[in-house]
Amino acid sequence: MSTTSDRSPATDSDRLIQRPLPPELLMRGDDPFSPPPGLDRLHERAAVSPVELLNGARIWMVTGFAESRAVLTDERFSADTHRHPNAMQLTPNQVVEQRAAAAAGRGGCPATEQQRTDGLFIFMDPPEQTRLRRLLVGQFTVRRMRALEARVREITVEHIEAMRAAGPRADLVSAFALPLPSLVICELLGVAYEDRAEFQERSAVAVNLDASDEERLHAQAGLYEFMRGLVADKRTHPADDLISGLVHGDADPALTDEELVDLSTMLLGAGHETTANMLALGTYALLEHPEQLAALRADPGLIDTAVEELLRYLSVIHTGPVRVAVEDLVLGDVTIPAGDTVMISLPEANRDTGQWPDPAELDLTRVRNHHLAFGHGVHQCLGQQLARVELRIGLAELLARLPGLRLDASPADIGLRTGMIIYGVHSLPVTWD
Ligand code: HEM
Repeated sequence: MSTTSDRSPATDSDRLIQRPLPPELLMRGDDPFSPPPGLDRLHERAAVSPVELLNGARIWMVTGFAESRAVLTDERFSADTHRHPNAMQLTPNQVVEQRAAAAAGRGGCPATEQQRTDGLFIFMDPPEQTRLRRLLVGQFTVRRMRALEARVREITVEHIEAMRAAGPRADLVSAFALPLPSLVICELLGVAYEDRAEFQERSAVAVNLDASDEERLHAQAGLYEFMRGLVADKRTHPADDLISGLVHGDADPALTDEELVDLSTMLLGAGHETTANMLALGTYALLEHPEQLAALRADPGLIDTAVEELLRYLSVIHTGPVRVAVEDLVLGDVTIPAGDTVMISLPEANRDTGQWPDPAELDLTRVRNHHLAFGHGVHQCLGQQLARVELRIGLAELLARLPGLRLDASPADIGLRTGMIIYGVHSLPVTWD
């Protein structure tokens, strides 16, 4: 078992998973909110298609809604990146070796017996994933979520009022969309007020692609150290927060420091950029659909269906989830050999014409919107209720408090996060009346 001292986020490849996809499956067309035209073409031909990655490996791209759900509920597909490494993790040389193995009758990446010893259950299968997930679910209590909702509103209003005071223009990403989810995670984990500036600074640099690799890795390592300090503090000074609940709860066996630190950093990783990009890209999409925006302004009661529709329409997790077949199986019309990697395309699955009438339209009144933006099955997003609260309050308050909100740049100048695991915009210059 590795010790906490010899590990840091910078040395764990799972935290820096690359997506060596060919550019035509990443580059958006004229419409920044629609999936890449290259993916549309794949989907038109089949619901499951072979794709060659830049490292030379073949994976299966799943673009159909029913097929995506099937993958996410079938235990023959593994999320365990230690026991079943996926093709994204391979170097070109390893791909050549893998091809030779396939020619000898052994498909895909070979399975290993390497069990995870950290807390990253998003990369585990049941029963190991079940144990850790249950412990966390037990901390997302109704009472804690209610208290968080009140704080989400306060944090939202504080940030919008600060924008107004410094306005009438701002970058919505740095002034609002990134700090809101990071502060909400601070509330959840129980980061002391006096430490929040440091936490936010480090988490903002850790995900900032304008920073150098060195700066980002330094910030990630610093964040990891910060979390270790936080866990140590909660052991001796428990309070009413998630980490204290886990440390002093009835976990049997008790959670190790390494697991606790990893669970906390995983919550930040899973809940920060996802929500931030939904807030920023969601605002951008509303501004570019003036009739829909006017309908929402006229009837704020539409916010619930509006948030679900934006989640479906934008599908910011645009390169995954990823799984590996643990045995030969049939998916759609294709046979997938054991060891092969499948990548689900949520943007395509969420625009499947078999599932929605006019899926390419943004319709904020859409009901029965059973999208896959939060995944499905045993790994379905644990923070989805919290994300919904942040999106509802965040978008509603932005529209209510910033009358005449509009872009302060030409759409052509808005940088898109095409090559990132989470899609969105790098910055969003806005102005208001
Ligand atoms: C709009 C924002 C969000 C989106 C679109 C999103 C999406 C997703 C998706 C698609 C998965 C499934 C991954 C897979 O199957 O491999 C997932 C898992 C997860 N999410 Fe979220 N998420 C969001 C916000 C959050 C927040 C706010 C938190 C926590 C504070 C969170 C915590 C998690 C965790 C812990 C998992 C792993 C669950 C497991 O493996 O059992 N997410 N999320």
